[in-house]
Amino acid sequence: MDIRIFKNEAEIGAAAGKLFCDFVNEKPDCVLGLATGATPVPTYNYIAEQYAAGKVSFKDVKTFNLDEYCDLPKTHKNSYYTFMIENLFSKLDLNLDNVGFLDGNAADPEAESARYAADIASKGGIDIQLLGIGRNGHIAFNEPADEFTGESHKIKLTDSTIEANSIYFDDIPMPRYAMTMGIGSIMKSKKIVLIATGASKAEAVKAMINGPVTPQCPASILQQHEDAVIFLDEAAASLL
Ligand code: PGA
Repeated sequence: MDIRIFKNEAEIGAAAGKLFCDFVNEKPDCVLGLATGATPVPTYNYIAEQYAAGKVSFKDVKTFNLDEYCDLPKTHKNSYYTFMIENLFSKLDLNLDNVGFLDGNAADPEAESARYAADIASKGGIDIQLLGIGRNGHIAFNEPADEFTGESHKIKLTDSTIEANSIYFDDIPMPRYAMTMGIGSIMKSKKIVLIATGASKAEAVKAMINGPVTPQCPASILQQHEDAVIFLDEAAASLL
């Protein structure tokens, strides 16, 4: 793991955002794996600024997002699709036909998972996958478990995740299920960039980096990825 520690989330946004923009400039038709949540927002803001300044174009870029809630309309204000439109896609020249998302309302989650894996493979696989980490060590919605997950699947969210994310749901109860890329799918990405900011992530970061590789801390699997870059602020790195 290539661990990089920064003062604050603004510095990380600039550094991680630059990494993505440089990559897109090198490979304009690349495949990006994207994440939602509070963590990637400074990175997305930096990318949008670079686009607005004419420094990078996303017109041939393809994207796949990590996860989506079940039982929530795709266009609901809390869907992850809406999050991506608002926080990134609407600010770029990205073609929405090139945006890949798991369908959280798919009648047959297994068929949906197979479709997603085939779609990613047909585009050549994910070049760089952006990740956050949950307070419980989850990546995407792969919660602590007895085994590492494989490809995409439907998952029941844990109490820790529901507690962390329910602050965003003011009109309806937060969904209890989600569709997520599995650990196996994430590990196929050629490069992984994980960002963790804030003291609430310090325990999970310590377990990911210094602990054993165990499905009880799903992010610990990244110790086995050959090109994983970890961006931390000082608070998230405070227990290392
Ligand atoms: P956050 O979520 O960026 O909102 O903290 C990260 C995650 O749960 O993976």
